[in-house]
Amino acid sequence: MGAILDGNRLVLGTCYYPEHWSKELWREDLQRMLDAGIEVVRIAEFAWSKVEPTEGNFTYSFFDEFLDLAEEAGMKVIFCTPTATPPAWLTEKYPEVLNADINGTLYRHGARRHYNYNSPVYQELSKRITEKFASHYAKRPCIIGWQLDNEINCEMNVFYSESDSKAFRVFLKEKYETLDALNEAWGTAFWNQTYTDWEEIHVPRKTYSDSTNPHEVLDYTRFISDSARRFAKMQSDIIRKYLKPGDFVTTNGLFGNLDNHQMTKESLDFITYDSYPNFAYCLDAYSDEPGELKDRKWSRNLAEVRSISPVFGIMEQQSGANGWNTRMEAPTPRPGQMTLWTMQSIAHGADYVSYFRWRTCTMGTEIYWHGILDYSSRDNRRIGEVKDIHGKLAAMKEMAGSIYEAKVGIVKDYDNIWDAQLDVWHGRVENASQKALFKTLQLSHTPFDYVYLKDTTDAAELKKYQVLFYPHATIMTKEREAVLRAYVEAGGTLVVGCRSGYKNMSGRCVMDKLPGLLSDLTGTDIPEYSFIAPDAGKVTVKWGDTEFEASIFADLLEPAGEGKLEASYTSDYYAGSGALVCNTAGKGKAYYYGSAFNEESARIFLEKLNVISPYQDVIHAPEGCEIAVRAKGDDRYLFVLNYDKNPVEVELLQKGTDLYTGQEVSGKVELKGYQTLVVKL
Ligand code: GAL
Repeated sequence: MGAILDGNRLVLGTCYYPEHWSKELWREDLQRMLDAGIEVVRIAEFAWSKVEPTEGNFTYSFFDEFLDLAEEAGMKVIFCTPTATPPAWLTEKYPEVLNADINGTLYRHGARRHYNYNSPVYQELSKRITEKFASHYAKRPCIIGWQLDNEINCEMNVFYSESDSKAFRVFLKEKYETLDALNEAWGTAFWNQTYTDWEEIHVPRKTYSDSTNPHEVLDYTRFISDSARRFAKMQSDIIRKYLKPGDFVTTNGLFGNLDNHQMTKESLDFITYDSYPNFAYCLDAYSDEPGELKDRKWSRNLAEVRSISPVFGIMEQQSGANGWNTRMEAPTPRPGQMTLWTMQSIAHGADYVSYFRWRTCTMGTEIYWHGILDYSSRDNRRIGEVKDIHGKLAAMKEMAGSIYEAKVGIVKDYDNIWDAQLDVWHGRVENASQKALFKTLQLSHTPFDYVYLKDTTDAAELKKYQVLFYPHATIMTKEREAVLRAYVEAGGTLVVGCRSGYKNMSGRCVMDKLPGLLSDLTGTDIPEYSFIAPDAGKVTVKWGDTEFEASIFADLLEPAGEGKLEASYTSDYYAGSGALVCNTAGKGKAYYYGSAFNEESARIFLEKLNVISPYQDVIHAPEGCEIAVRAKGDDRYLFVLNYDKNPVEVELLQKGTDLYTGQEVSGKVELKGYQTLVVKL
């Protein structure tokens, strides 16, 4: 898109807050950024009052002055709508715009994101400020794009204000039309919850042990997502009326209770992400368990981002220590870590990386959330590292626009994500399997993509994956089954795990034989199932000559139709019952595995299905390094990222060009602590 994701260059930016600094600093700051290779600043996301200091009085000179300087200096600007922080005059006069906790207590002025999406007053005032911002500033030549709000659904992703209950009723009326239909979908016959008037329905309220009707909570989560998306779309529609040709609309971050895929489709040109891998080193969250992935876990988030926009931007990339004055204390990134985390983002598809923030703020909650520069503003080690990164990105720019390569996909959908979040049976297996699969894929150097099932997903989209894992496809629909079936019939391999196919879209359990809608495709029947009892000890499965441990749950399987038993349990009363069934459909295979995945079983599946370590004839690298390949046309770019603070040795089995230096590279190469390598193969 225009200036930053043009497929020709990798671009650096930073987050700047003109309102935090005296104007005398602006010109010098912009020049120092440009000297360091920073070409873009993002501004204004928390600066509503600079333009509307009192209700209905608009003044544009503050940002006009800044934009004049940016234009003079040749700096590009991403401008933001300021709705993440409503002004004090607004929340004081219209407290109904505030979000509330589950007891109805309002979140007050003093922090951020304290508004609710459904307040008609907030919608009106947000529309008006967006219109004012866009109509006045969007024509400025230095502006290259817009960010909506800031981190939609961050800090708080549940909403309990009066406006939310009213809007929830509207959402439900549209969805169900009649109360009878709603009562049926929510199973309100249970515990005498039947509704006789729409006004009796509220967003979830305080209940004994927080156990509100699960079907209601599932719809409520969809409603929050809907509300956030509508809020984003309202802003995007306004901005697009004024957008210069080539400019873009985006927003930053990936937060819960939000269908980020649909939001991007309807409102954005691409998504950007805020990457803070240093959270792994927070003083009270650090874990040094053997095999703990620490900052490398952010690759999981980056894979999520990539599933929305294959080439994306990082709007905020860690450049200093973290910490609010109230929480999240963490050390300063060590020499090399900024480069490592930047390359981690790029390896996964970022062609734009913007550091948070230019200079550390001297006031407010984020005085410890460090930017590139410290309070004094003197040149420091970190700005030196930015300059070095800029040199590297210039040297490797030919790989811009390339796409991450993966033969393995992990299938997801929002209904199951949200069900797993409210249902502890589902959540327990889902969380464990997702973690184990990610870790195993990472450590075995097997790149993968997340693949979201949307209404528009078809088998053609899935075809490029040799193997798809859909770990716990608990909620299943006929439409999704048909897409999976078409993928398998065309030659794909699908693996689903325990607890698949037992719920419908309302989250109600089906009375069919399990795994319900997946019985036929997987050739499986599940006459009995159980959590593995805490006193069962190690429960094992035998697949051919390989024996491994089952995890958490045991669906006891029998083959049905043409399904063939591949593996059986070998312990407890499960011994002899089926643990894995394989069904051939068309040119492909569908497997039903009766348990959750752990690192051992995940690795065995990858091995048996022949998709493990696809680059073993290209590179040998220790587990502590991440391997990724981005491809463009016939060109392939190999990223090797050493997350260890100690040196490691890798061996390149093919000759390539080290893109940082332009030199040929092959054979044994030592990577220093945190060192990265990008090789054109
Ligand atoms: C992000 C946010 C920034 C800043 C940063 C560090 O979540 O968008 O405004 O708060 O974290 O805390």
